Amino acid sequence: MLKKILNLFKSQGPSQTKTVALNSAKVGEFYNKNTDKFIEVYGDIIQAFRTNNVYDYLDYTIQNAELKDGQKILDAGCGIGGPASYFASKLNVDVEGVTISELQVQKANAAKPSQTLIGKTHFTQGDYHLIDELYGPEVFDRVVFLESFGHSNNKPLLIEKALKVLKPGGVLYIKDLFKREHPNAEDGKRIDKIVAEIDKAYCYHVADLHEVLAALRRLNFIILFVKTPDIKVGEFEHLTISNNFQELFDIAKIISWEDYIFPVDFYEIKAMKPPFDISQQKHLYFLNRPEIIDSPVK
Ligand SMILES: C[S@@+](CC[C@H](N)C(=O)[O-])C[C@H]1O[C@@H](n2cnc3c(N)ncnc32)[C@H](O)[C@@H]1O
Repeated sequence: MLKKILNLFKSQGPSQTKTVALNSAKVGEFYNKNTDKFIEVYGDIIQAFRTNNVYDYLDYTIQNAELKDGQKILDAGCGIGGPASYFASKLNVDVEGVTISELQVQKANAAKPSQTLIGKTHFTQGDYHLIDELYGPEVFDRVVFLESFGHSNNKPLLIEKALKVLKPGGVLYIKDLFKREHPNAEDGKRIDKIVAEIDKAYCYHVADLHEVLAALRRLNFIILFVKTPDIKVGEFEHLTISNNFQELFDIAKIISWEDYIFPVDFYEIKAMKPPFDISQQKHLYFLNRPEIIDSPVK
């Protein structure tokens, strides 16, 4: 797999890409090896932060990412296609899913969606750091990362690629876990340790919110919101699914709760690509209204 992924990166610059390719190959192998385990526990929606009825969470995603009829959507890190199929069962959308794992793409293509699709889905095996090459520029109305973004070991690069494939006025939506801040050095050390264990067990690079926001702002993304997912306590699954997974398969199992500090925050980030070319029109400011695409504010 590594050779194949390194080949995919041929046209990119040499230095940063090798570490990205190496990491992506590792993640691909992780999912080739563990996808059946994930399916056993999570079904076809491989997300830790969810509602008791996981489809309620996907409805929430539709609402907050503003997925709408007629859109072309990229589900970057699509798993075995559960979310993409759900979106296409609710809306007349055209969803492209990309996953680094060959096994997942086979499963996504073989799966029979439980609901009739109104829209379309299409799944590709590939690296989401290369989506500009896979799909071309300014193709998507939405790029969504649903607990997939944190696998990247070069998030500024990944955000740059999302910018390229989004249409002007298109929206990037990230739902993921971010390392918690801490009030003192002692808690900080414990959080660092637990996060390092999560990273190792899940091939993850739990994101730093500041780094991600800085990368978005550097590229002139318009930050629409950063928030904790807004779901009712009674509907929240309380992360029991990831505890079950960890217990069952001995992956990142928590041995003792004594010194445990909850190490991450779950956030949704929604950011819009500027509706006009900011590098050409640096004197302009923008509003977060898609309708100004044709008439930027002077
Ligand atoms: C936790 S799963 C989430 C899957 C899916 N979003 C869902 O909600 O069911 C993480 C996903 O990110 C994908 N992924 C991680 N790194 C990737 C990369 N470099 N390129 C493409 N997909 C990647 C994995 O293959 C996996 O499908």
